[in-house]
Amino acid sequence: MVFNALTAFVGAPLSGILFTAVLPGGCPLECPFCIVNKRDERRTDSSLTAEHLVAALASIERRRLLGAAAIVGDEPLQTHCWPMAKAFLDRGIQSRVPTALITNGYNLVDFVQELRQLNKTKILISLDAASEKHDEIRRKPGAFARISEGVRLAASDPKLRDQISIATIMMPGNLDSIPGIIDFTASHKIPQLLLSPLLTSSRTEALAVHPKVMKEAWRAIPRLLDHAAAAGVKLRLSDEFAVLGPWEQKLASIGAEILAPKEPARLIRVDAAGRVETLSTMHSGTPTELRLPADITEMDAFVDTLLERCFEQVEVSVAA
Ligand SMILES: C[S@@+](CC[C@H](N)C(=O)[O-])C[C@H]1O[C@@H](n2cnc3c(N)ncnc32)[C@H](O)[C@@H]1O
Ligand code: SF4
Repeated sequence: MVFNALTAFVGAPLSGILFTAVLPGGCPLECPFCIVNKRDERRTDSSLTAEHLVAALASIERRRLLGAAAIVGDEPLQTHCWPMAKAFLDRGIQSRVPTALITNGYNLVDFVQELRQLNKTKILISLDAASEKHDEIRRKPGAFARISEGVRLAASDPKLRDQISIATIMMPGNLDSIPGIIDFTASHKIPQLLLSPLLTSSRTEALAVHPKVMKEAWRAIPRLLDHAAAAGVKLRLSDEFAVLGPWEQKLASIGAEILAPKEPARLIRVDAAGRVETLSTMHSGTPTELRLPADITEMDAFVDTLLERCFEQVEVSVAA
């Protein structure tokens, strides 16, 4: 749930822009399918700072276009990444827009207190199996045990629990694990599980649903919906299932609820090198070649160029 559906998940107003960021700092897991990695968005060393991201948010806000802010990578719950993550989310909260972060949950156990303080931020925890199979999928021995302990701690606080959703990728090879994830979600009274298809992408390749996923999905989805309903978990499918393939009607006919904004999301994605893409450039695989300016005093001019080039129909009015 990285792109379009995120707008609906976060609750971004359609008139606004969802500003998403991949933070520098890497990740303790080694998922072979990682979209950040595939798109060459990962940096462990970067000149991108919290000040750049905060300045970009502030500039979009001044143009009355900031709709929401979300951290979508690399892994924000790491000691060296947290100050940047916190500064970014605090700026979104200060602008009174919805905020969200996606985490692999590996270090959740150490960040429960910090997340309690972000009491308006939605938290998505990724889980592709509720067992050691998750460790195999994400190439990290002991990952599920740690995530499970973090989720137990976080979900024991009802307020924090209501901020949490579980995010699962439907991929070849994990279909049989999804009922277990539904049960795990229910056992911690987490209200919602979001299911997305495995995507393929690179910087110059259009986003696409992995070709093997949909073949298996038709068989699996109705059973998963029944299982979730019986367990009291709201199972929602990200609209990547629908917008990246001709499956919308068929999904509707099997009763699947698709999490989608009413119009295509106005989404900006800044990667850990400061490069800037939009949903449409990611969909088409034609990079903008734009990058946040190193000099923060140039941010307003940069944002104007970005809005003009990438969101032609957006009406810009700058706050005094
Ligand atoms: C790139 S990760 C970054 C946040 C965090 N490290 C995590 O894994 O949750 C953001 C979301 O994208 C999902 N994701 C990663 N690679 C994907 C792919 N190839 N297709 C679909 N979703 C993917 C992850 O499972 C996660 O829910
Ligand atoms: S945990 Fe997230 S960021 Fe890390 S490798 Fe996996 S998908 Fe990528």
